[in-house]
Amino acid sequence: MSSVEAAVRIFRQLEAEDLRILAVVEIDLSRHRFVPERDIIRLSELPEREAKYRLERLTEFGLLYRWVGSYVGYTLNIAGYDCLALNALVKAGVLNSIGKPLGVGKESDVYDAITQSGERVAVKFHRLGRTSFRKTKRLRGYAADKRHVSWLYQSRLAAEREIEALRLVYPRGVSVPKPIGHNRHVVVMGMIEGDCLFRICSLPDPETILDEILENVRLAYVGAGVVHGDLSEYNVVITPSGHVLIIDWPQYVRADHPSAEALLKRDVSNMLKFFRRKYGVIRSLSNVLEQIKRPLPSGA
Ligand SMILES: Nc1ncnc2c1ncn2[C@@H]1O[C@H](COP(=O)(O)OP(=O)(O)OP(=O)(O)O)[C@@H](O)[C@H]1O
Ligand SMILES: [Mg+2]
Repeated sequence: MSSVEAAVRIFRQLEAEDLRILAVVEIDLSRHRFVPERDIIRLSELPEREAKYRLERLTEFGLLYRWVGSYVGYTLNIAGYDCLALNALVKAGVLNSIGKPLGVGKESDVYDAITQSGERVAVKFHRLGRTSFRKTKRLRGYAADKRHVSWLYQSRLAAEREIEALRLVYPRGVSVPKPIGHNRHVVVMGMIEGDCLFRICSLPDPETILDEILENVRLAYVGAGVVHGDLSEYNVVITPSGHVLIIDWPQYVRADHPSAEALLKRDVSNMLKFFRRKYGVIRSLSNVLEQIKRPLPSGA
């Protein structure tokens, strides 16, 4: 069972008092590596016996980690953070139920789910700071003001950046999943179907697919002022009708960011290299970049 599935199973058993304790620990984690038990009891405003019972139960569930040192303290486990986010999304009327995994990766777990209005959506739980030094290090650029950059903070930052990017590019017609909602380290977006470009053995018309990808890069850059920043055959999906979707946006930068030009060049170069290697399509990087930067026709 994946960690999200475990969190969902436990989430169903949680009571309001359990969630209150989790929320208190979360808030105080900005000040402590392990939040003192005494503070949790006080801040939860629950009777001491009740608070202690909840702390024990949440630790047994694996939502909290109990630390015994010079004092007794607690920290949130990923499953505890998952439960806080799920609770907020259910309360906000976004999610109704979580289904099966769609993609379980190094940096995220993606699940299918149903919204309260019955729409099928994808829910992406960001998981940073454990296995991916690369992404962690790059996101640190945005976290320079935080001295203690924890997995929790990094995962939340990745989700915030991803929903921001989707909200910027989706209305400009860039082919991406529809942004639906967000809480903590979790992004809710439209469900997409298709296969990642790297999985596909042969494309009937690689030139047209490459053109469509580049047109989306251009719409994002010129139309929305956004550079993907991590574009590769792993983050391009080909739909069953043969169209392109671009996913996985937490590393986006605005077009006026000092690294924007370099990242745009790298994104485009990644795509051109892939199409050259796999499909023998040859394009000049400088020509393509020039095309991408041309202003959109007025009214677009
Ligand atoms: N909106 C969506 N609808 C359906 N499936 C999705 C959606 N978004 C992502 N997925 C699935 O989840 C996988 C991982 O998504 P994404 O690339 O955004 O995350 P990631 O952090 O890069 O994960 P990984 O470490 O596996 O690359 C995708 O390859 C795809 O199979
Ligand atoms: Mg990816």
